Amino acid sequence: MASKKIDLPPGVLQPREAVLRMTPYSPPTAGRAGQLRLDFNENTVGASPKVIAYLREHLSEDALAIYPEYGAAKKELAAFFGVDADDFVLTNGTDEAIQVLLNTYVDDGDEVVVLKPSYAMYRFYAELAGAVIREIPYRAEKLAFPLDELLGAIGAATRAILIANPNNPTGTGTSRAGIERILDAASGAAVLIDEAYFEFCGVTALPLLNDYPNLFVSRTFSKVYGMASMRLGCLFSQSGNVDFLHKAQSPYSVNTVATMAARAAIQDSAYIEKYVTEVLAARELLYVGLEKLGIKYYESKANFVLFEAGDRAIVIRDGLRRRGVLVRDRSYEIPGCVRVTVGTREQIRRFLAELEQIW
Ligand SMILES: Cc1ncc(COP(=O)(O)O)c(C=O)c1O
Repeated sequence: MASKKIDLPPGVLQPREAVLRMTPYSPPTAGRAGQLRLDFNENTVGASPKVIAYLREHLSEDALAIYPEYGAAKKELAAFFGVDADDFVLTNGTDEAIQVLLNTYVDDGDEVVVLKPSYAMYRFYAELAGAVIREIPYRAEKLAFPLDELLGAIGAATRAILIANPNNPTGTGTSRAGIERILDAASGAAVLIDEAYFEFCGVTALPLLNDYPNLFVSRTFSKVYGMASMRLGCLFSQSGNVDFLHKAQSPYSVNTVATMAARAAIQDSAYIEKYVTEVLAARELLYVGLEKLGIKYYESKANFVLFEAGDRAIVIRDGLRRRGVLVRDRSYEIPGCVRVTVGTREQIRRFLAELEQIW
């Protein structure tokens, strides 16, 4: 398709039309060190100390000099996730999983279905691929998963459906039965179930892998594992699909240090369980604290909660930032809403105390 010429500054080369049309995405990642990071749904206390110890022990000049070899890490991760090593690709975060999936299945002008609001990178990569994007809104009432509306939107033209379960930023999700209904209705489309927050809710589509050739499941080491800087995820599907995902992926997009860290991380499941228990307790504390302040919130199945600040959403975000507490404004997609990541109970007590001061 020929690109439509538009006026660009002198010396700037004309990009693809899909790139011209894209909305820039630049998350506010600067200056976060040392602040109370309740803005990106990360692990707020960091990776397991055993990961750091493992890296100290195993990182060598040779390990850095050699191009990555994935065999050993894939074997251990396969055992951990209860799948075969042929049933997944390692990816540079979930973000690359989304990109590889779209590169494998979606052509210019194809239809991709996403929910709204949801994780921004679905739209980002779908736009980049030149797809026609169809958005299904979360229900106004409790921001519930719009299962019937989504089922009604699936048609012969649907090439891919991208779903976060539970969803960011709503915190709501659907059941395994709901996912099966989507998979049944969309047999001709690649259906991604992004389980970035699986550990906080326990619902997974992974056991459905053998039954559905149209199912793709992603997991990440960025959230509960506290390894966002490593950029590591896994994209699961049936092995016949995985062969094609490999074909569409650059051969070394995941680095050796990330695979080392993951091998150590999955050996310390006690650390993950303890953190999840702490977050779930802190989430209850947060609900109680918000109720005391008379603030409306949406119940969440993940490690973050949306609350309503009305027309003061940005004022509240900025006021908290001045007090060293980072949260995310979401009012541009859900009027009046601010999203706070749930960390430890101690961190949530501090958040509530600061919020009370400026409320
Ligand atoms: C639903 C969802 N998927 C994926 C990610 C990011 O994952 P990764 O760091 O693995 O690219 C996020 C991060 O906010 C998310 O909310």
